[in-house]
Amino acid sequence: MRDIIGDEHYDYQGFFEKAAEIAVYYGFKPIETPILEKEEVFTSGVGIGTDIIDKEMYSLKIKGGERLAMRPEGTAGTMRAYLENGMRSWPQPVMLYSYGSFFRHENPQKGRWREFRQFNIEMLGTSKSIADAMIIKIIATILEEAGLKNIQVRINSIGDKECRPAYIKELTAYYRKHLNSVCANCQQRIKTNPLRLLDCKDSKCTEIQGGAPDPISSLCNECRTHFKEVIEYLEETHVSYEIDNRLVRGLDYYTKTVFEIFNESEPLTDKDANEPDTTEKDIADKKKKGDSETTRPLALAAGGRYDRLAESMGSRKPVPSVGGGIGVDRVLLSPDRFILRPRIVKKPKVYFIQLGFEAKLKCIAVIEILRKARVPIMHSVSKDKLSGQLAVAERLSIPYTVILGQKEAMEGTVIVRNMNTRSQDTVALADLAMYIKKIS
Ligand code: HAM
Repeated sequence: MRDIIGDEHYDYQGFFEKAAEIAVYYGFKPIETPILEKEEVFTSGVGIGTDIIDKEMYSLKIKGGERLAMRPEGTAGTMRAYLENGMRSWPQPVMLYSYGSFFRHENPQKGRWREFRQFNIEMLGTSKSIADAMIIKIIATILEEAGLKNIQVRINSIGDKECRPAYIKELTAYYRKHLNSVCANCQQRIKTNPLRLLDCKDSKCTEIQGGAPDPISSLCNECRTHFKEVIEYLEETHVSYEIDNRLVRGLDYYTKTVFEIFNESEPLTDKDANEPDTTEKDIADKKKKGDSETTRPLALAAGGRYDRLAESMGSRKPVPSVGGGIGVDRVLLSPDRFILRPRIVKKPKVYFIQLGFEAKLKCIAVIEILRKARVPIMHSVSKDKLSGQLAVAERLSIPYTVILGQKEAMEGTVIVRNMNTRSQDTVALADLAMYIKKIS
């Protein structure tokens, strides 16, 4: 967790404004859910047996014994809000965007923090394949408009409750035959989270994975048609994609479509994504032993369809939905990204200078005149000398200075100086706003 100050804060805000603007044009409305939720929102939603819940979630017990958790992700909270606020009776699908901090107790490294920020978009209450494609397209558009030139979508389908049980049976039967050849984590995963066997990056397991049955060939007719349609829509929208039949994701709520988006030109890499407790020493030891590569690219964004999430959270009826989240901290690490600034940040037009006690008394009133006239300014009211203040104005290349000395303070005027031509005028305070507007 870290402090975000000054220009870096504007980088985040600038990205958020750009992303929100795109989401709003596509018809999404904002939502903000609490950072603290009842723990069961995530244990029932994201799923026990996932790394996020078992190893990474910050949980706390409050007076009275209730267990709360700091949200490790946003989808379960958004679904809770949908159910609790009666959004089922709104026109469907309900299209929501959100932005904020999420918390996971992971091994911190570049691109992987314990507090990180996501921009999420969700379409709740639709089972249609067009929604999956629209989510992917909007996320790709946001990344492109933030400057990322070479993004690649990896997409897969992991089936639904009709076809997944048979697939899991086939997968675990295959792995049981190779039990002695896979890593200790995978020996556990066969029992706790078999789908995750497919994306283990331990060098021991990659060869076994090569021969594993692939989820797409086990899809039922409905899931196969859905996946085919999503791909057709993606073709139509010219999103660059690749089918990755080993992509399974680390959250239990997904059905059918899952996707991750990477920056192909400058991929960030994870030292050892499969083992959250891996230390720098473990990695060094592995390398010493000659174990193969322990890195893999980190996704900039990810998501998928979650048709069964509402029921796992206690809803009697399903709420078929799809969404995705952008890892904003990772986007901002990309060398390609544009410097986006929030609308409130304006280049200063005027540097305000005051000299002497009489002027200091009046300076807030002058700044207020300029603020009301929407003239962006800079100043250093804590400085007393003209030379010090002028030096700052020159260094920042601000085109005009407004100078308030003892005499001007008594007369209700200021001096406006053009810093390029050095010409200057005395202007009555009552005319200052108009004067600045005219010259700039
Ligand atoms: P996720 O893949 O866990 O999915 O996270 C989405 C994105 O958040 C990742 O692709 C990554 O860019 C970023 N991210 C995740 N963990 C970290 C971290 N520790 N530090 C920095 N960035 C990180 C979800 O959270 C789903 N709720 C997304 C979703 C929305 N699915 C449907 N709707």
